[in-house]
Amino acid sequence: MGRITIVPISHKILDFSKILYTLSPGVRKGFDMSFEKEKEIFDNIYQGVDGYSISNRGRSTMDPEDRKFLIYGEISFAELLSIIENSGIKDELKGLTTFCDLGSGTGKCLIGAALICPYFKRIIGVELVSTLYESSLESVQQLAQTKKKLASKIKITNGNFLKLDFAKPSLSPNVVLMHYPIHGTGSEELYLQLEEKFRKELKPGSIIISAIRKLSSSESFPEILSPTHVECKYGNVTIFFHKKV
Ligand SMILES: C[S@@+](CC[C@H](N)C(=O)[O-])C[C@H]1O[C@@H](n2cnc3c(N)ncnc32)[C@H](O)[C@@H]1O
Repeated sequence: MGRITIVPISHKILDFSKILYTLSPGVRKGFDMSFEKEKEIFDNIYQGVDGYSISNRGRSTMDPEDRKFLIYGEISFAELLSIIENSGIKDELKGLTTFCDLGSGTGKCLIGAALICPYFKRIIGVELVSTLYESSLESVQQLAQTKKKLASKIKITNGNFLKLDFAKPSLSPNVVLMHYPIHGTGSEELYLQLEEKFRKELKPGSIIISAIRKLSSSESFPEILSPTHVECKYGNVTIFFHKKV
């Protein structure tokens, strides 16, 4: 359930999301055709935007200490749609208002969430790498050309999510996406810091969707659904769904 299956192919050769959309409708397993228009808007915005090189350029000018845990990878429109529409989380999300992507990159998940989930009233991104942040602002401006109201919901901060106060009324997300923003030796400590922030600052009932790494405390953040899997450009990714008690 909720799984896009396709034989893994190196992203250097073929772009998975492009292949998915060129398959005949019957083969587009798990894809909701009613989002074709949204997918077209998304693709127009991101045509020619190479998040990997934008991230590399930004990271190369950062202090080595500040960039040591940073990694880049992205979730495409089809993958986000699959997570939201087919995993079983859809009904839980419908009652919630404020989506936040921690480490928002070029803004793909922000714009994707705005297009897929009209019930979100506010969509918040936080990105440390300034080149990615700037690129995400440009993409939101582009969205505003055709979908002004949706674009006006999106607010992005250039900064470190570990330093934000999630309890602040201007943030206070109740849906948090974490697409494996930090990695490497020592990153586990940062994840635990982040979980501590979630424990103190997120409202009970908030949903935390986490790719690759599940939250460590099953008491504070029980999983509410079985994990699902999406085939991202860089491999098969497990997605975990938690709810803060
Ligand atoms: C794997 S990428 C995901 C990008 C985006 N969420 C997506 O799925 O397309 C992780 C992002 O988190 C950012 N990041 C890592 N640590 C951060 C921090 N402490 N504060 C803000 N952004 C951070 C990285 O620069 C990177 O862009």
